[in-house]
Amino acid sequence: MKPNDLPLDSIPAQAQPKAAGFSTRAIHWGYNPADHQGALVPPIYTSATFAFPTVEYGMACFTGEEQGYFYTRIGNPTLALLESRLASLEQGAGAVVFGSGMGAITATLWSMLEPGDEVLVDMTLYGCTFAFMTHGLARFGVLVKHVDMTDPQRVAQAMSPKTKVVYFESPANPNMRLVDIEAVATIAHAGGARVVVDNTYCTPYLQQPLLLGADVSVHSMTKYLSGHGDLTAGAAVFADAELATRVRLYGLKDMTGAVMSAQDAHLVMRGLKTLALRMDRHCQNAVQVAELVARHAAAAVVHFPGLPSFPQHALATRQMRQYGGMIAFELHGGLQAGMRFMNALQLVTRAVSLGDAESLAQHPASMTHSTYTPEERAAYGISDGLVRLSIGLEDIADILEDVRQALDIARTV
Ligand SMILES: Cc1ncc(COP(=O)(O)O)c(C=O)c1O
Repeated sequence: MKPNDLPLDSIPAQAQPKAAGFSTRAIHWGYNPADHQGALVPPIYTSATFAFPTVEYGMACFTGEEQGYFYTRIGNPTLALLESRLASLEQGAGAVVFGSGMGAITATLWSMLEPGDEVLVDMTLYGCTFAFMTHGLARFGVLVKHVDMTDPQRVAQAMSPKTKVVYFESPANPNMRLVDIEAVATIAHAGGARVVVDNTYCTPYLQQPLLLGADVSVHSMTKYLSGHGDLTAGAAVFADAELATRVRLYGLKDMTGAVMSAQDAHLVMRGLKTLALRMDRHCQNAVQVAELVARHAAAAVVHFPGLPSFPQHALATRQMRQYGGMIAFELHGGLQAGMRFMNALQLVTRAVSLGDAESLAQHPASMTHSTYTPEERAAYGISDGLVRLSIGLEDIADILEDVRQALDIARTV
């Protein structure tokens, strides 16, 4: 069996794609207890290496004539199960998992680009993705062009025959700008480029980039997909199975070695079982917090796709199932007011990362986006006063009370 094959004959009938909904596949896809001595939970294959019955078989694995497992950096049964589940949830032809979200992003782009190529990237990116593009890829002869992708026509104007990849986040970390995935994919494909979307903020439950025309959907599984803040992991889901193989055999195996551990794959699969439930609650809680902040006199501007005042609210409604659990805002009084707000929080924890059960608050300019210079942040729409909240799963009354008292303090001191 190929590492990435879906063992269709072993999938319980109720979990097969046509018959099964999102959560059913998140719980069952690709696994039949009958094949594993009745074990309800899939076994964790911790082995780094796999025994060859004969030297000839081992040689054939290395040439690709045999598709068996031989070394975990290239393939492992526990990782393969998670990969098949992710491919099913996001309706891809294949998926590859990694030791971090940055592992997924870098392995994918190293595999898709060559010196002399151009990559178009949106104005706002997660700080380490920005650093990889502008300080990493650019050093190796790839031209990185920043384009305001909130207007798809700007992508059309920036395309050239050398453009091989169009890359963006939607919503973007940290300022929540959206990109019309379908419109940009149509433009990129017309110019011969492929589209990579960072879908970390949404997960496959809230947004399905491949169905909207994207070629690759990348994730930090450190966030909602694992959901409990206890591991780092990444994934890339592909519309094209050949590209998945290339990223596995080049980007993962040779260029980054960013392999995921089998224990972490087990934890992500545990997280996936409750993904839909958790996302529903994150989204419900976030709407209420965004409305509270927007009503409060301390707030200057709130960036949340679910607010009717959000400039891209209609696009969010069309493109996303719900509006997500992330909120960004600026307070009157800028950075000083934002710092007062964060220091006043008692339940919401001051920490980077997102998508955990715990509500988290951070200051992008000095934390996740400090990889930008102040001039770059100003040019790319990341204001110094921006505060970012990841709304967790605590009781909404408690979250609201904490945010309210912190806003009161931010305003009155
Ligand atoms: C949108 C986004 N993409 C990618 C990453 C990188 O993921 P990781 O930290 O798992 O490497 C992050 C991390 O915060 C992120 O927020």
